[in-house]
Amino acid sequence: FLSLAFTIIFSYLFGSLNSAIIVCRVLKHKDIRDYGSNNAGLTNVLRVFGKGPAAATLLCDLAKGVLAVVICRLVVTNGFGVTFFHDDKFIGYLAGFFVMLGHIFPVFYGFHGGKGVLIAATTLIAIDPLTCAFSVAVFAIVLAATKYVSVGSICAAIAYPVFTPIVQLFIIKGDGVLANTLMATAIGLLIIYMHRPNIKRLMNGTENKFGSKKKA
Ligand code: G3P
Repeated sequence: FLSLAFTIIFSYLFGSLNSAIIVCRVLKHKDIRDYGSNNAGLTNVLRVFGKGPAAATLLCDLAKGVLAVVICRLVVTNGFGVTFFHDDKFIGYLAGFFVMLGHIFPVFYGFHGGKGVLIAATTLIAIDPLTCAFSVAVFAIVLAATKYVSVGSICAAIAYPVFTPIVQLFIIKGDGVLANTLMATAIGLLIIYMHRPNIKRLMNGTENKFGSKKKA
C-alpha cells in the first residue's frame, strides 16, 4: 500500500510542476496559458515565445519525466519492496500516468496545464525506450506529412498502446504485459481526450499548422 500511495502522490505533485508555465514565467514573465492555443505545452511555447523557451521547456520535461520514473522505481524497490506490483516496470507506468495527470491538471496552477504528450514520451523513455522510439517515429512521420502537431500527437497516442504489447511480447520479453498495455491505453486515451479542441479545429479547418507563429 505504501508503494502505491508514494508513487501516486509523489508523481502527481512532481507532475504538477508544469515546465511550460514555470519556464515562461521565469524567462518571459508571462503566463503561456494566456497566449496562442492557451495550452501549457512545448508546441505552444515554441509557437508563442520561440526556440529558447521551447528548448528550456523540452529539457525540463525531459528531466521531469525520466526523474519521476527513476525516483519512484528506486524508492519502491529499495524502500517498500515490489511485492504489491510484482513488476517494477508497472511502477514506471503508474508513475508515468500520475506525472501526466499532474502535468495536465496541476494542483499548483489552478488545474489547467498541458495535454500530456511530451511528458508521456519522456516518462516512456525511462519505462520502455523501444516503444518510445517507435511512437516518436510515428509522431515525426505524421507531423512531416500533415504539418499538424496535434495529428502527430493523436497518432502517437494510438501507437503507444499498440506497440507496447508487441515490443514487450516479442522483443524485450518482460512480465505483466497485460497490465502494462492497460496503463499505456489509459495514457493514450487521456492524450486523445485532451485534444478535443484540436479535433474541433481540425474539423472546421482552423487548426494551427506547425511553423505558423502567434506572437505574444
Ligand atoms: O502536444 C500538444 C499538441 O499536440 C498540440 O498543441 O498548442 O497546438 O494545442 P497545441
